[in-house]
Amino acid sequence: MAENRENWGSKLGLILAMAGNAIGLGNFWRFPYQVAENGGGAFMLPYFAALLVLGIPLMYVEWMQGRYGGKYGHGTVGCMTYLQAKEKLGHSSAAIIGALVGMLVFSVTTLVNSYYTQIIGWTLGYSYLSLIGGYMDTARSTGEVFASYIQNPGMSITFWVIALALLAFALSRGVQKGIEAWAKIMMPLLYVLGFILIIRALTLGSPVNPDWSPIKGLDYLWSPKWNELNWQSALAAAGQIFFTLSLGMGIIQNYASYLKPDEDIVLSATTTVFLNEFAEVILGGSIAIPIAFTFLGPEGIESGVGLSFIALPNVFRMMPGGQFFGAFWFLVLFFAGFTSAIAMYNYLIAMLEEDLNLPRKAGAVIVFSFYILVGLPTALEPYLTKTAELVFLTELDNWVGNYFLVVVGLIEALVVGWLFGEKKALEELNRGGYWKVSSAFFNFMIKFITPLSIAILLVFSTRSYIKDGYFKWIPRFVENMPELVPWVQGARVLLFVILAIGFIEAYY
Ligand code: PHE
Ligand code: NA
Repeated sequence: MAENRENWGSKLGLILAMAGNAIGLGNFWRFPYQVAENGGGAFMLPYFAALLVLGIPLMYVEWMQGRYGGKYGHGTVGCMTYLQAKEKLGHSSAAIIGALVGMLVFSVTTLVNSYYTQIIGWTLGYSYLSLIGGYMDTARSTGEVFASYIQNPGMSITFWVIALALLAFALSRGVQKGIEAWAKIMMPLLYVLGFILIIRALTLGSPVNPDWSPIKGLDYLWSPKWNELNWQSALAAAGQIFFTLSLGMGIIQNYASYLKPDEDIVLSATTTVFLNEFAEVILGGSIAIPIAFTFLGPEGIESGVGLSFIALPNVFRMMPGGQFFGAFWFLVLFFAGFTSAIAMYNYLIAMLEEDLNLPRKAGAVIVFSFYILVGLPTALEPYLTKTAELVFLTELDNWVGNYFLVVVGLIEALVVGWLFGEKKALEELNRGGYWKVSSAFFNFMIKFITPLSIAILLVFSTRSYIKDGYFKWIPRFVENMPELVPWVQGARVLLFVILAIGFIEAYY
């Protein structure tokens, strides 16, 4: 059954592909603004707690589920969950759980993709802008340049479609020649350029206010603020851990399904976490935030989803060779996002391969068209509303990036901890491993602490989501932003439609 499945070509290729999967726009685009919106130091405490209690254990769980599924020829999470839940529950109940998870994961990858690929398009467009000097003229603020970029479909839609087409091309070449080959080139390059940019960022002086320095920006990030801790920031931190490690999306399992049945899990998974966290808190945290602080001050860093695109061009304006440096930097960001989007894209292709027996090339074309359809509302919003508010994108990201991922993670921990069973789970986790997970870790962490913390988090976040009107059809924007209401509703309609499609898929 599993004979015709591809495997990873080499250990290095596997690690870089997994790092490419995890390291993405989450590190360089999402992390800085999540930190900024949640009070800096108040965010980092729950962030590291979530890394230890949720991130690392779930990473092991997902690698294990994936390798297990791959052995049976499956690369999608619904099937994996079914196989593991069956150990305790038998066929019919396991099928229900498998279908539920399959539906959620399908929805998550699809919806994340609908806005993630937009941002990949922005990075590509901004490389181009950098090259032609599109933001070098200081008469317009970089915020205005960004707004006019996303409101101009000739730019934003064009680069988005180019990005999607390149993804389709890369994916049609398969695991080793497609996924692995891209990661091997782009990931090392990303680290090197990240370092160069950090050095530049930390040696800047503020042209605006001598009190604003890059070091103050770092201070903002690294001073713990216990009194500002709340459930909102804890949830955002946990959501960021899920997002940045690609957890709860099915794509870690999907990549792990191409492991050989006794290839190491624990050490490789830990390495992936380490590589991602380094790229996030060190590279991601030392570039955009210090630069934003230096140029825009404490208020300015709260520019939300546009942070990376508004703050960073400021530095390229002043640097010798900034045009080329900017172009190169955005291009590298593009590849970071690209190697993550490849994983998401591959998930749907694997689904088509396995459910419908479609060849990879046909799958790539179908997924391309599907993603165009689903991403169009996000792409068109700034143009149609003539604002740069991006409420549609933000609404989707709040639901998917902070909420659904966490729900999926809870189910995974419960299935592996309680239904698959200790003996089988430990055997699967540790077979062929350079490092091993102990029975104590399994019984304490994976069975109790991890799911319990997710459950508590979910209770509180659900409460705050209810309070903020997320569950209400007439949304919280009614009072102050009437013109944006249709977009929030649109985001929710899309959410329901995709969930419904996933539901049908799960019961195919
Ligand atoms: N882990 C990715 C990141 O940090 C998130 C991601 C991966 C999102 C794949 C979508 C698809 O950017
Ligand atoms: Na990441």
